[in-house]
Amino acid sequence: MSDLTPQVRRRRTFAIISHPDAGKTTLTEKLLLFSGAIQIAGSVKARKASRHATSDWMEIEKQRGISVASSVMQMEYRDCVINLLDTPGHQDFSEDTYRVLTAVDAALMVIDAANGVEPQTRRLLQVCRARNTPILTFVNKMDREVQEPLALMDEIERELGMTVVPFTWPVGMGKFFGGVLDLRKDQMRVFTPGEDRVAGTEEIVEGLSNPALADRFGAPYEQAAGEIELVREAAPEFEHEAFLGGQQTPMFFGSAVNNFGVQEVLDALVDLAPAPGPRPAIQRTVEPAEAKFSGVVFKIQANMDPAHRDRIAFLRVASGKFQRGMRMKVVRSGKELRPNTVVTFMSQKRELLDEAFAGDIIGIPNHGVLQLGDTLTEGEALQFTGLPFFAPELFRSVEVADPLKTKQLRAGLTQLGEEGAIQVFRPMLGSMLLLGAVGQLQFEVVAHRLEHEYGVKARIMPARFNVARWVTCDEADGGEKELKRFIDGNSHRLALDAVDAPTLLLEYAGELRACQENWPKIKFHALREHA
Ligand code: G4P
Repeated sequence: MSDLTPQVRRRRTFAIISHPDAGKTTLTEKLLLFSGAIQIAGSVKARKASRHATSDWMEIEKQRGISVASSVMQMEYRDCVINLLDTPGHQDFSEDTYRVLTAVDAALMVIDAANGVEPQTRRLLQVCRARNTPILTFVNKMDREVQEPLALMDEIERELGMTVVPFTWPVGMGKFFGGVLDLRKDQMRVFTPGEDRVAGTEEIVEGLSNPALADRFGAPYEQAAGEIELVREAAPEFEHEAFLGGQQTPMFFGSAVNNFGVQEVLDALVDLAPAPGPRPAIQRTVEPAEAKFSGVVFKIQANMDPAHRDRIAFLRVASGKFQRGMRMKVVRSGKELRPNTVVTFMSQKRELLDEAFAGDIIGIPNHGVLQLGDTLTEGEALQFTGLPFFAPELFRSVEVADPLKTKQLRAGLTQLGEEGAIQVFRPMLGSMLLLGAVGQLQFEVVAHRLEHEYGVKARIMPARFNVARWVTCDEADGGEKELKRFIDGNSHRLALDAVDAPTLLLEYAGELRACQENWPKIKFHALREHA
C-alpha cells in the first residue's frame, strides 16, 4: 500500500445526469446541505437559469461567476471527500457533458417519477454505458402524483439495459406519500414535507412488517408490501461487482425538494461508488496511488470570472499528489507550468488549493498554455486517452465585419475552440474559417462571446458542408505517405482542426461512401479521442 492509498480510497468523484427539470439542481443543493458544505438551501438556485439556456443565455453570462464556481463542488461526508461535477443542462452542450463524464467514476441518475426516462437522460446514459460507469438511480418527486414504482422500475430496466435493484420502496405517492421502506435496513423512514429538516432527524419505524405500519399507512403500505414481495422474487440480489461494471443500478426513491431520500444517496455514494481507479494512457496504465502526480484536462472555460478574465483548465488528478507551487509539465508541448493560484471548488467559492489527490478536480488559470485533453505530469511522457470529440453536424463560415479585427477573430476562435465551445477548422484552400458544432445554440453562444469577450463582431454565415470525418491511415496501410496522397488529392475539401488533425468536409453523406470506396486504406472517424 502506498502512502497515498488512504487518500485515494476516501475519494468519490461523480456527476448527476438527468433531463432538465427532473431535480438535479435541487438534489445538488441538498447533497451540499446534508454534507454540511453549505448552511442554507437556496444558494445553488441562482444557477438555475441555466436550464433555460436557449432564451436566457445572455442572462446566464451575467451569472457566470456563480454558475461556474458550482460546476465542480467538493464536500466532505463521513470520512469521504466527494467531488460532484456539474453537467450542462442544455442538449446543445452535450459534447461538453460527454467530456465531463470521462472525469467521473460514477454517475447519479435523477429521474422525475412522473416522466420516467426522458430523452436527455437516455443520451447521457448511453455515454455512461459505453464507459461502464457505475450508475445510482434516484427517483425524485414522490410527493407528486407519479407513475407506479413497478412501472418505473420496468421502464428504467428496459431503457438502460441494466438490472435495477431497489434499495428503498415508496409507500404511496403524492398527497399520500408516507415515506420509504428500506429493504436493507428493514425499517421505514417516514416522510414529512418541508425543507427545514436536517440530516438524521427523520422518523424511523423498525421492521418492514411491523403491524404499526399497516395501521398507520393503510392501503398504500399494503400495496408497497405486496410490491416488495414481487420485487424480491423477480429482482436479483445486489452485487457490488455488477454495479461497478455498470450491469446493476441501485434504486432509491425520494423527494429532493423535501430533503427526503437525500441522505441515503449520500450514504450510497460513500458505501457503493468506487474510489478512483487506474486510468489508461497510451504508454501504460496509471495507478491512482502512484507517488508521482499526473492529471488530464477535461474541460476549459474561458473568462469565467469577469473580475479575473482568465481561462481555467479543469484537470482531473489521475495519480500522485498535487501540491501548491509544484512544477508540472504539459506533455504535448513540453512546456513547464508552475501555477501559484490553482483553485479548488468548495461549494460556492473558489478557494486556493494546497493539495489534491486522485479523483480531485483542480482548476488551473492559464492563458492558452493548456488545451482540452492535455496531460500534465511531473516530467514523464504520458498521454491519457479517451477524451472524446464528436464530428460536428452543423457548419458555418465566419468572417469579421471589420477586416482590421481579423487577428482578434482568430485569437478568439482559437481560445473558444480550445475550450471546446465550438470546433474551428482551417480549410486547406482559402482563408475563411469554418465553425463546426453539434448543437445550433453553440453558434449563438460563440457569436455572443466573440463580441463581448473579444470585441469582435462576427458574421456567421451558412456553409455548404454537412458532414465531417477525421482521417487517418494505419502504418500497415501506408501510414503518413498514403494519408498525404489522400490529402493532396482532396485539398478542396480538407481542413485542419484545432490540433491540426486533418478533417474531411463533405456536403452529403453519399460522398462519404464514395470516398470510403475510392480510398479503402484511409480511415474516416466520426469520433476523435484526444491522443
Ligand atoms: P433541474 O436542475 O434538473 O432542471 O431541476 P430543478 O432542481 O431546478 O427542479 C425542477 C423543478 O422541480 C423545480 O420547481 C423544483 O422545485 C421541483 N422539484 C425538485 N424536486 C422536487 C420534488 O421532490 N418534489 C416536487 N414536487 N418538486 C420538486 P420549479 O417550480 O421549476 O422551481 P421553483 O419555483 O421550485 O424554484
